[in-house]
Amino acid sequence: MSDLNPLEAETLSAIAAAPDEAALESVRVGALGKKGSISALLATLGKMSPDERKSAGAEINALKDKVSEALGARRTLLKDAALEARLASERVDITLPARESGVETGRIHPISQVMDELTAIFADLGFSIAEGPDVESDDYNFTKLNFPEGHPAREMHDTFFFAPNEAGERKLLRTHTSPVQVRTMLAQKPPIRVICPGRTYRCDSDQTHTPMFHQVEGLVIDKQVTLGHLKWVLEESCKAFFEVPSVTMRFRPSFFPFTEPSMEVDIQCSRKGGEIRFGEGDDWLEILGCGMVHPNVLRNCGLDPDEYQGFAWGMGIDRIAMLKYGMPDLRPFFDADVRWLSHYGFRPLDFPTLAGGLSG
Ligand code: DAH
Repeated sequence: MSDLNPLEAETLSAIAAAPDEAALESVRVGALGKKGSISALLATLGKMSPDERKSAGAEINALKDKVSEALGARRTLLKDAALEARLASERVDITLPARESGVETGRIHPISQVMDELTAIFADLGFSIAEGPDVESDDYNFTKLNFPEGHPAREMHDTFFFAPNEAGERKLLRTHTSPVQVRTMLAQKPPIRVICPGRTYRCDSDQTHTPMFHQVEGLVIDKQVTLGHLKWVLEESCKAFFEVPSVTMRFRPSFFPFTEPSMEVDIQCSRKGGEIRFGEGDDWLEILGCGMVHPNVLRNCGLDPDEYQGFAWGMGIDRIAMLKYGMPDLRPFFDADVRWLSHYGFRPLDFPTLAGGLSG
């Protein structure tokens, strides 16, 4: 039997030098694998005489055990070192602040907030919400609301018209929420008490006008409805909206084709130091248009004006949002700028209720 010492020394030093588990595995295969150096020695045992086999077998097996043991020890060492390295590289700094969830960082747009506030206020007064489409017919946007063909009031609306369809009908983007009055009267029998918040469109753009904006319409129809009721509803809802104990209102005669008489409403305010406050001061601020529903409109919507009367009003949601929350420019409302939204927006879980407070 040749001297096993050189093979032993070579194999043990290869094991000691293996830098990682993969290298160690190839040393193992080179020594103990099917074609490994030690396996080859074991294969020679069969051709030896029994005496030779006895002594050589003991030596080769001793070498095999030594190598196996060295491999096992090295493997454990490399495994532990790899785990240490991984733990060191994947360390987390638990003193870092936790990242806030979407519910914490997301904000409700002031328009949505104001719509929710109006819904809460008018639901409390017994109103329900009515809606209509943004793309409207000329008939509902104008004609049924008593804007005669060719009447100059139509021109004042800066309407976006669509190209006429095959039937020659020209649809438009509704210029106000008043067509929802028509849709409501055609769809349900009085008594009617609805508010209609939604998007409206006019070809106009500057610091306080955008081509798309929001209005809320109110409509009440019943058998004995008077201007006194209108005044009360407007006063109560304005107090609730601006969260002040009292408001003083001024009703000025005006003109809208769909109401008779028609009025514009101003509320008393003070404008000290660039800040508007309601319920005090000696200035006036126009906030809405209103009136008693014109008998022609009732008739156009299938109601008998001798049996029913009603009142209606309309106001700009964007405008009252700007007033209540002190936003000077309307255009950023629609810029989708998260910095603006995180400054002016509302926390999603602070939804407005009359009991809990509207603006939190
Ligand atoms: N529709 C009007 C506008 O857009 C606002 C308005 C005024 C609505 C008087 C009404 C109303 O219901 O009675 O300018």
